[in-house]
Amino acid sequence: MAENNIMEKIAALCKRRGFIFQSSEIYGGLNGFWDYGQLGAELKRNLRDTWWRAMTREREDVEGLDAAIIMHPNIWKASGHTETFADPMVDCKTCKGRFRADQLAQIPCPQKSSKPVADCDGEKTGARPFNLMFQTYTGPIQSEENIAYLRPETAQAIFVQFKNVLESSRQKLPFGICQIGKAFRNEINPRNYIFRSREFEQMELEFFIKPDEVIEKIHGSVAKWHEGADLSTPQPNWGWEMWHRYWVDQRVKYYESIGLGRDALDFYWQKKEELAHYAKATVDILFKFPFGTEELEGIAARGNYDLTQHSKFVGKPQDYFDEDTKTRYIPHVIEPSAGLDRLALAVITNAYHEETITDAKGKTETRVIMRFHPRIAPFKAGVFPLLKNKPELVAKAREVHRLLKPHMNCFYDEAGSIGRRYARQDEAGTPFCVTVDFETLEGVKDGADSGKKDTVTLRHRDTSAQERVSISDLLGKLLPAIS
Ligand code: GAP
Repeated sequence: MAENNIMEKIAALCKRRGFIFQSSEIYGGLNGFWDYGQLGAELKRNLRDTWWRAMTREREDVEGLDAAIIMHPNIWKASGHTETFADPMVDCKTCKGRFRADQLAQIPCPQKSSKPVADCDGEKTGARPFNLMFQTYTGPIQSEENIAYLRPETAQAIFVQFKNVLESSRQKLPFGICQIGKAFRNEINPRNYIFRSREFEQMELEFFIKPDEVIEKIHGSVAKWHEGADLSTPQPNWGWEMWHRYWVDQRVKYYESIGLGRDALDFYWQKKEELAHYAKATVDILFKFPFGTEELEGIAARGNYDLTQHSKFVGKPQDYFDEDTKTRYIPHVIEPSAGLDRLALAVITNAYHEETITDAKGKTETRVIMRFHPRIAPFKAGVFPLLKNKPELVAKAREVHRLLKPHMNCFYDEAGSIGRRYARQDEAGTPFCVTVDFETLEGVKDGADSGKKDTVTLRHRDTSAQERVSISDLLGKLLPAIS
């Protein structure tokens, strides 16, 4: 399928079924902003929950944080964002457009679309930096002193709360602080649907480790990464290289746990000359989107840059007292930083499958099946009475729905043929459908006792296979599959 065609189909499905809507659509939309509808909101919530669980709940060495979006403006001076978080831009005095200097050859001229901006006749300025941070004011007076920014990353809140979390949690190095939250970047060129937006959500961990010199002092030597290294159990003498590899490995395992297998992913190790000035190494985990293989998450070994900068700016060391060496130092950091919206797009494109069905009369129909991993699917189960005009079936189906509802998000549906109801749930990505029929009530089939009273039909989305399951066994069967 052509890449544009498939992205158009996916966007149409997302709108039709309530995954993703254009923000402010009835006003013509706002470029770079998106809303998640009823299925999208559930999907995102499930992604957040799986990440939070893997990164903090299931670990003893990571604490959570939920910080304010607007923070002291000096934080962005210390982090370097005020000075350097900018794209070089060129203005065209003829068409009044503003374009990224490194994309002039690709962007069509707004007045003559057959030519790229680089070759059009418009009079252009030289490249000038354009800061990507959204600016606002705190309080009623819009003055220089009241300038504040919507955070362009969640990471800085973690650095500036490092001491508070360290002291209140009584953690010892190595340990991490993680956060999920909104970030804002006034991207020049939002593109590829929700892939690059101006408002998005990040899921970030700052994992604080001892500097290699300290480990050397305590253990005599530092374990460095080597081919075939065992990354399953962290060791006290691990240096930053091992921790960096460990987190790449952990993050890949996480993606696998929500249905993004290794063949859907790729890796890019940034070259020395591409690294940010504070980074010792950065690996990008890429996903094979229909429009190309692009970054899902970056995992950087950031040294002690940020805590050192904040120490300088506040005049107080943001450091750690090491009981083993009786010394104080600024920890180093490994940072796995993922985009939630990109992940939502990755799991949506990964789940999208078309199936062509031919009926008995030879009529063909193409149906969409969203094969989400059950753990992240918006609805876990659809519950149906076989017929809606049989009150006993409806009452029993309602009873089954009430049984499941406290344990999982499930959808009750009695409208249309049973085939249509299955198809609707396939399109929403619901892994299981439960149908209450006459056997459920009577245990009778073809006039004979089938011994199947109080059983239901459990239908599996990906195979369309159906099995008979006791209502009392339903939870025991479904819960392990979705948790
Ligand atoms: N604290 C490090 C940091 O912010 P980044 O590579 O700029 O690093 C991390 O961002 C992740 O945030 C990216 O891998 C991507 O998933 C997501 N992200 C960044 N900019 C985005 C945008 N404009 N729209 C959607 N997601 C974005």
